[in-house]
Amino acid sequence: MPNLKQKLREKIDIWRPRVARLIQEHSDVVVDQVTVGQILGGMRGIKCLVTDISYLDPMEGIRYRGFTLPEVFAKLPKPRGAESPYVEGLIYLFLIGEIPTVEEVEDVIDEFHKRRILPRYVYDVIDQFPCCSHPMTIFSAAVMTLQRESFFAKKYAAGLNKTGFWDPTYEDALNLIAKLPEIATYIYAKLYRDGKRIQSNPGLDLGGNFAHMMGIPRPYDDVARMHFILHSDHESGNVSAHTGHLVGSSLADVYLSVSSMINGLAGPLHGLANQEVLRWLHELMDRMDHKIPTEDEIKQYVWDTLNAGMVIPGYGHAVLRKTDPRFLLQRDFAMKHMAGDPIFQYVDLLYKVTPDILMEHGKAKNPWPNVDAHSGALQWYYGVREYDFYTVLFGIGRAIGVCANLIWDRALMYPLERPKSITIDMMEEIVEKAKKKSSMESVS
Ligand SMILES: CC(C)(COP(=O)(O)OP(=O)(O)OC[C@H]1O[C@@H](n2cnc3c(N)ncnc32)[C@H](O)[C@@H]1OP(=O)(O)O)[C@@H](O)C(=O)NCCC(=O)NCCS
Repeated sequence: MPNLKQKLREKIDIWRPRVARLIQEHSDVVVDQVTVGQILGGMRGIKCLVTDISYLDPMEGIRYRGFTLPEVFAKLPKPRGAESPYVEGLIYLFLIGEIPTVEEVEDVIDEFHKRRILPRYVYDVIDQFPCCSHPMTIFSAAVMTLQRESFFAKKYAAGLNKTGFWDPTYEDALNLIAKLPEIATYIYAKLYRDGKRIQSNPGLDLGGNFAHMMGIPRPYDDVARMHFILHSDHESGNVSAHTGHLVGSSLADVYLSVSSMINGLAGPLHGLANQEVLRWLHELMDRMDHKIPTEDEIKQYVWDTLNAGMVIPGYGHAVLRKTDPRFLLQRDFAMKHMAGDPIFQYVDLLYKVTPDILMEHGKAKNPWPNVDAHSGALQWYYGVREYDFYTVLFGIGRAIGVCANLIWDRALMYPLERPKSITIDMMEEIVEKAKKKSSMESVS
């Protein structure tokens, strides 16, 4: 049975000629045109990035290697008695493009076991952070500290042929992913548990071991696996994935790229929204004196937020135009395990009233909830009450997608990313020319 790296090598040999043919024979074929609105509107919808690992359809939601999320959850192997699949199976799917067998997943689990030990200096760096540092800042710095371990950086400095870049990138990526649960749970213990950490259990899979190190019993292992899988990838254009790719395109190694990705994720319009959702929910709960609000009371709260000029955290999306399937999968889990809990009832009531209000408000193109509208409520219910920490969990998941993409970026030898900018003067000139052209056409 070929192991993950051998199988990846075989896949790379199949994909390289496809990319080479597109470049050599079809470079002039037009894919998309760009408007002034897109340039000034944060590049929405411009088709200028490439990834084969996931694709986001505005109406259907994300597909991983062609599989919808319900298919991914149904098809990937699961630990005995578990509801959520092995994260290691997802990594296989991302890299190879096929659903793995149990044996193939076990091979990936073994790979991670070999790579999970964290050098002492990373703990020391985390310990040195001043109090009140945000966990995402510590997380990013801890990942960057590991950069001295980079195989890619060493091989590159020694002289490495471009066709071989993917191999040390693969080594760096697996080494880093294996260590992320250790880093995250150590940060958690340091910030919120007086430094009392639970040692890793080498007999467990990545999600199970994370739950173990957090000290939270089942079914939190399923929550952890589900969380990492749902947050792993959302095609290339979101801030975190794009940052990881952009930095990596300069041939910065995996550690530098993932650390940058974490910084992008830490913005409130992106990954930090999950912490904002809980903060906002708790303000509502306090206002209600913790009783379950009526629909009118909850509507008032949503309107008050909008009228104060703030966004409703966890709602809206730059690409999606329907309820995020990642929200729905978490909701299914919550309905099974915590339907009677007040935090779920608040999330549920908000889901009932917010989309209509956002439609009436008339600004957001997508009034439906995204992944962040639900993830924090699950964490809260299972005892992770420090919501500043939630984006770190998102970061573990997103690192998996970013790392898989970095490996494939190098495998297919994608170049340095360098789009072109123009000035407002130039844009006005282009607009004037376009106006003249269209008035001449309407006269003739
Ligand atoms: C995700 C998000 C950043 C997408 O931004 P976008 O692509 O610019 O969204 P839109 O094109 O729909 O934005 C159009 C307008 O609607 C507003 N809008 C979008 N989502 C909104 C929300 N949840 N609440 C209130 N207003 C919202 C925008 O702020 C923008 O207002 P403006 O014209 O005054 O600048 C945006 O929906 C948002 O801020 N959501 C809340 C934060 C969040 O949940 N982030 C996690 C995303 S996974």
